[in-house]
Amino acid sequence: QLGKFPHFMLEEIYAQPAILAALAARSQQGLSPVSPALRSDLAHVTHVLLLACGSSFHSAQVASYWLESLGGVTVQVELTSEYRYRDSLPPPQTLVIAISQSGETADTLASLRHTQAQGLSASVAITNTPGSSITRLARHHLLTLAGLERAIFSTKTFTAQLLMLYQLALALGEARGRLGPERLALAKQEMARLPALVNATLQLAPQIREWAQQLAQRHSLFVIGRNMHYPVAMEGAFKLKEVAYLHAEGYPAGELKHGPITMVDSTLPVIACLPWNNHAEKALANLQEVRARNGEIFAFSDAALAPVERLHVIRVPGGLNDLSPIIYTVALQLFAYYCGVARGNNIDTPRNLAKSLSSD
Ligand code: BG6
Repeated sequence: QLGKFPHFMLEEIYAQPAILAALAARSQQGLSPVSPALRSDLAHVTHVLLLACGSSFHSAQVASYWLESLGGVTVQVELTSEYRYRDSLPPPQTLVIAISQSGETADTLASLRHTQAQGLSASVAITNTPGSSITRLARHHLLTLAGLERAIFSTKTFTAQLLMLYQLALALGEARGRLGPERLALAKQEMARLPALVNATLQLAPQIREWAQQLAQRHSLFVIGRNMHYPVAMEGAFKLKEVAYLHAEGYPAGELKHGPITMVDSTLPVIACLPWNNHAEKALANLQEVRARNGEIFAFSDAALAPVERLHVIRVPGGLNDLSPIIYTVALQLFAYYCGVARGNNIDTPRNLAKSLSSD
């Protein structure tokens, strides 16, 4: 039953502050989602292999940055529709993290079985679905507790996956003796701030809708970001394809100049994720390259950037470091939603898409 929202997708986008608050509160209360048995597996891990497809693959990619920087391990991220057929050689002390909202995606289950056949026994499934096949296949599982996702597109389960993966990266860093109490306390503070900042991002919906109305009929878009915001850009572009049937390419900002810049002109807008962090200077230089070719930039940024010709800015909330990808994800979810609406699409029953693909 839809309440005050016209579509399940929008309802689920707006459910995110409460879901993230509940997940963050558990860690404030010292209730780590990580069981003692999982913690003891984490202590012996030197590599992590993340397996997923669709949106879950993008959450895996964001998490790879946390697992490297906080967990101090080598990280590999794989699309399961490919990985299951590969002759890969994962090192023995690899933790497999399989991510699936539904817990039933055939390729992800097959890839997890493939790693088990290769002798990797330490595995953890991250899913939103209690009792799903993936929970029975993996040695451990973590539930994202986002409630039933009724929209076809992952929104609330995507950000819940991110927060769960962040907590797992922290537990890994702690189990491996890399993170002390001060660093963990900082992370907890950041998690505590997150729900209000996501809420503040949702307040930007009218401005984001204006951009969508302006851009929804373009033939193509680039969505760019650097570092952790590169997979955020990929997820944003993925949502534009899924929801708005609009061609969009998620691209690392620094790679535009190695080819795709040829496509940039006044008709091809570039949506940018531009958090004011130590990658911002480089990202700004990339945006200058776009402007120099008459490209029009629509930047989400937490900096007070003065809009100049061909640079439009929506200021999103700042104040987060590790978890900043969640803010930009929510802004892009709204953008994709309003593009889909502007194109007259049936948001809750998109053409050609099913929720989980239990056979290939
Ligand atoms: C696809 C959906 O079929 O499956 C995507 O269209 C989804 O939206 C993907 O992200 C993966 O699903 P799951 O349940 O394994 O996370």
